[in-house]
Amino acid sequence: MGEAAGKTFCEFFAGIGLVREALGASGWSCVYANDVDPKKQALYLGRFDDEGHFHLGDVWETPEVVSRIEGRPLLATASFPCVDLSLAGHGRGFEGTHSSTFFGFVRAMEKLGERRPPLVLLENVTGFLTSAGGKDFEAAARALAGLGYRLDAFTLDAAMFVPQSRPRVFVVGVHQDLDPPGALPRSSSGWIVDPWAERLEAADRRIRPRRLIDLMRSIDLPTGWIAFDVPAPSVAPPGVATLIDRDDAQAWWDEAAVSKHRDMMHDRHRERVDAMVAAGATFVGTIYRRKRDGRTRAEVRFDGVAGCLRTPRGGSAKQIVIVVEDGRLRMRWMSPREYARLQGVPDFPLVANAIQNLFGFGDAVCVPAVQWIDRHVLSPMASAGVAEARRTPGGRQPDARAASADDAGGQRQEHVA
Ligand SMILES: C[S@@+](CC[C@H](N)C(=O)[O-])C[C@H]1O[C@@H](n2cnc3c(N)ncnc32)[C@H](O)[C@@H]1O
Repeated sequence: MGEAAGKTFCEFFAGIGLVREALGASGWSCVYANDVDPKKQALYLGRFDDEGHFHLGDVWETPEVVSRIEGRPLLATASFPCVDLSLAGHGRGFEGTHSSTFFGFVRAMEKLGERRPPLVLLENVTGFLTSAGGKDFEAAARALAGLGYRLDAFTLDAAMFVPQSRPRVFVVGVHQDLDPPGALPRSSSGWIVDPWAERLEAADRRIRPRRLIDLMRSIDLPTGWIAFDVPAPSVAPPGVATLIDRDDAQAWWDEAAVSKHRDMMHDRHRERVDAMVAAGATFVGTIYRRKRDGRTRAEVRFDGVAGCLRTPRGGSAKQIVIVVEDGRLRMRWMSPREYARLQGVPDFPLVANAIQNLFGFGDAVCVPAVQWIDRHVLSPMASAGVAEARRTPGGRQPDARAASADDAGGQRQEHVA
């Protein structure tokens, strides 16, 4: 394989560019970005300018994708669409047109041939682990193993870094020719004591949940699994109150709208809010509207953590801010700037259209979570010159035949952003 250049990467499903935002901080350089959505691209370009490497087009346009990637980047990232894998979706998994674009990424990697990046990083919702009873995760793992990658997988919640609940699965692939420093390979000898398994079992369950460990142990990859030492952050982030604007210039709702949402609360939530108003207490929280037993409920979070940001399809996907202060109860829609703060990019340039901003941030990755992976997994490999450090022949795993994306269950699908 050709030698990979420096800390270079290509960003698939780039959206507004928060993977680039995360990796750029430690010196990674983006050589190619792809997304099909011009509205996301507008936000991306507002932050990074057009250096000519943003390919606005369908990931399934394989020849175009491959021709636009120059040389051999060190890393390819793919935070592919989650809608068919998320619990809020319709459970279509890789049968759906959105999440199956993953196989468009796989096909592009396959066709890069000798120029295939030695490292890959996937990101998706934790529903990826349960979709089709784990078969979708297995299909994705097998597709990457078919391209010669050994894999590790772990979960991180944005709430470890910022006050937003956003659990996500990350999969790291390292080409089987390479020797990643600090990673333990799964033993193929059948030994009872396997350091790989011990590392998984000893890890914090927030990083290696039982469901994920069981999946990894049950899927026998031709390239094999590895395990990096990914720690859980030890410092809790500040509460959501620190990121919410409370001044009068905000678009606070009128009394009727506040009263309507107070009435939509569960009794125990309303009683708690009313008690804080009566006591002159200060409280800052968030609300999502959800259908429960045929009724729309306003569910308040009292734990100092915002709910997971989503794309605002329908009113129930927009997050509401609730503030109790000086004996007053106030509410309003959460602002695009607050969305940006909850994704770890407080100063990200916004566009004029508020909904376009909410779509961009609702779909994006949380920057400090990706930076954590960079710090503990990606940059150490780049520093160790992993792309040049070939594995010794004795340590080589059997070669995996490069499976085509079509073999892996992928098919040409219509995209929807
Ligand atoms: C989960 S979002 C990725 C967000 C991105 N990482 C960020 O931080 O903003 C998935 C992205 O896939 C894009 N997408 C969907 N179908 C696509 C396709 N067929 N080709 C390329 N991109 C596609 C969507 O427009 C969306 O921006």
